[in-house]
Amino acid sequence: MVNQKLNKWVEEWAGIMKPEKVHWVNGSEEENQELFNQMVASGMAVKLNDEKRPGSYYFQSDPSDVARVEDRTFICSEKEEDAGPTNNWKAPKEMKEILLGKYEGCMKGRTMYVIPFSMGPLGSDIAQIGIQLTDSPYVVVNMGIMTRMGEAVLDVLGDGDFVPCIHSVGKPLQPGEKDVKWPCAPIEEKHISHFPETKEIWSYGSGYGGNALLGKKCFALRIASKMAKEEGWLAEHMLILGITNPEGVKKYFAAAFPSACGKTNLAMMVPNLPGWKVECVGDDIAWMKFGKDGKLYAINPEAGFFGVAPMTSMETNPNAMHSAEKNSVFTNTGLTPDGDIWWEGIGYDMPEGTINWKNGVHTADSDAPCAHPNARFTAPASQCPAIDPKWEDPAGVPIEAILFGGRRPSTVPLVHQAFSWAHGVFIGSIVGSEVTAAAIGLKAGTVRRDPFAMLPFCGYNMGDYFQHWIDTEKNAPDASKLPGIFYVNWFRKDDEGKWLWPGYGDNVRVLKWIFERLNGTADAQETAIGYLPNAEDIDVSGIEATKENLDELLSVDIEKWKTEVEGIKEHYAKFEDKLPEALKNELEGLEKRLG
Ligand code: GTP
Ligand code: SPV
Ligand code: MN
Repeated sequence: MVNQKLNKWVEEWAGIMKPEKVHWVNGSEEENQELFNQMVASGMAVKLNDEKRPGSYYFQSDPSDVARVEDRTFICSEKEEDAGPTNNWKAPKEMKEILLGKYEGCMKGRTMYVIPFSMGPLGSDIAQIGIQLTDSPYVVVNMGIMTRMGEAVLDVLGDGDFVPCIHSVGKPLQPGEKDVKWPCAPIEEKHISHFPETKEIWSYGSGYGGNALLGKKCFALRIASKMAKEEGWLAEHMLILGITNPEGVKKYFAAAFPSACGKTNLAMMVPNLPGWKVECVGDDIAWMKFGKDGKLYAINPEAGFFGVAPMTSMETNPNAMHSAEKNSVFTNTGLTPDGDIWWEGIGYDMPEGTINWKNGVHTADSDAPCAHPNARFTAPASQCPAIDPKWEDPAGVPIEAILFGGRRPSTVPLVHQAFSWAHGVFIGSIVGSEVTAAAIGLKAGTVRRDPFAMLPFCGYNMGDYFQHWIDTEKNAPDASKLPGIFYVNWFRKDDEGKWLWPGYGDNVRVLKWIFERLNGTADAQETAIGYLPNAEDIDVSGIEATKENLDELLSVDIEKWKTEVEGIKEHYAKFEDKLPEALKNELEGLEKRLG
């Protein structure tokens, strides 16, 4: 079927960006191989050793292009107020003028790829179709892993509507000019722009991750969060996991943690408690809608993992290691002399002669790491040994618990449970976390508020977003079926800066308490901040040494929480009259309970 709107749009943009040729991506294996071959030939990619890592490729980005650029990310609503205090704003007309200037001729000497992709299982009611134009073959092969991509999407699209996504690395080639290894534009020229009212994405200047794979953060969160607000559903920065207890009872949880705070690890963890099983539906994004039975159902709109490489090992996350065994892409890790990848915390010593992400031979005594802290693997979700049987079910999976979390070295206990839905929304709205390497330009180590782990991903006013979450209770077909809400913190440290909690596979001990709270079989104490387990309610069998840390891990330090309240007030002040009444009440309630 001919989609005239699509053809016209592609033609129009080819006219603006002036590529040497236009390539409609069909999504076939031959095409994928051809793209990799081209990138190897041009020096952009290194083919990894087929004996060690079949079908896999290695990339080094430009040192200026290693993560999302929050300073250069914009929400372009007509009114500034609709972008809200947490987003960078520019009027759509102004942004389009600026970017049209940059897009003019930006693909000279390059191929423009037309990528049809579906977020969500192809043809499912909840799925959304986008078309991305890009001049980066690296983006094409990554989109091939991260989304359902190619001709089949066009068949489903028919003459229907799609979300137009424009992307260019912003490095046109003059006739005869040799390409660089990783083309991109200088940081101040990068623009990751969203037009939530017209549902368009215009990205310029970066080839990395969330800046360039536009189905992910740009579409599935920033644009989809706006759609969700309008249509009464939720688009969230959440993993989705299934957890089965030794009796064979299964529940699904969703969890929102900020970037590089443990979603991938939790989503596919191998539990350190006999008889418990965890299976992965998704590791980064959840779209949630109410089902006919009144429960909240979640789908993972993605088809792959774009996971943080450093610290991923057979010890910490074997399922991620297996997922990336073949047919995977590695960006900014180290490269070993025998054609495999290496990174800090991979679980074995660095082979002599390993090349670091900056393409120098790495020495063990170097101050800088071999892999960039935001080095990533791109791996097909279908290769995850712990993938959930329902991960592609278009109906989604019923969510019984929602977890919030972040990196908090002090104050926030290992786990607590909200008193009510509104209190749970309050907890989500005050999430704070130590800043990580997942975005450029932030001061690593400082704690910042990252409500719902959506600070960089909410496509409209965060105050309205809070209200949308509050209203979800009222809009629920049956409020008694809403998930329970919990706040977890794997990242408490002692005075010497050591982790108080072992984390990873031992996090199942906390999931177990949550599971049993939902069943009504686990005890809790009521505290000022929520329901907390008593020390004996957390199963530490097999890690008895951790027992002595439990008192500290489960303490509620009233003075620290009073300081926290001051921080929350400052955070809330930003939202002015957009701050929901219900959250003001929750804050007052907390303050009263603290005495
Ligand atoms: P994004 O892909 O950026 O959204 O990150 P993510 O939330 O999926 O984080 P991921 O699971 O990749 O973990 C990021 C870093 O946190 C890795 O270096 C992990 O090793 C580390 N990490 C994850 N879980 C734990 C944990 O339970 N304890 C500790 N101490 N570190 C953890
Ligand atoms: C994140 O930063 O939350 C990521 C990586 O998942 S990126 O795709 O670059 O946004
Ligand atoms: Mn993420």
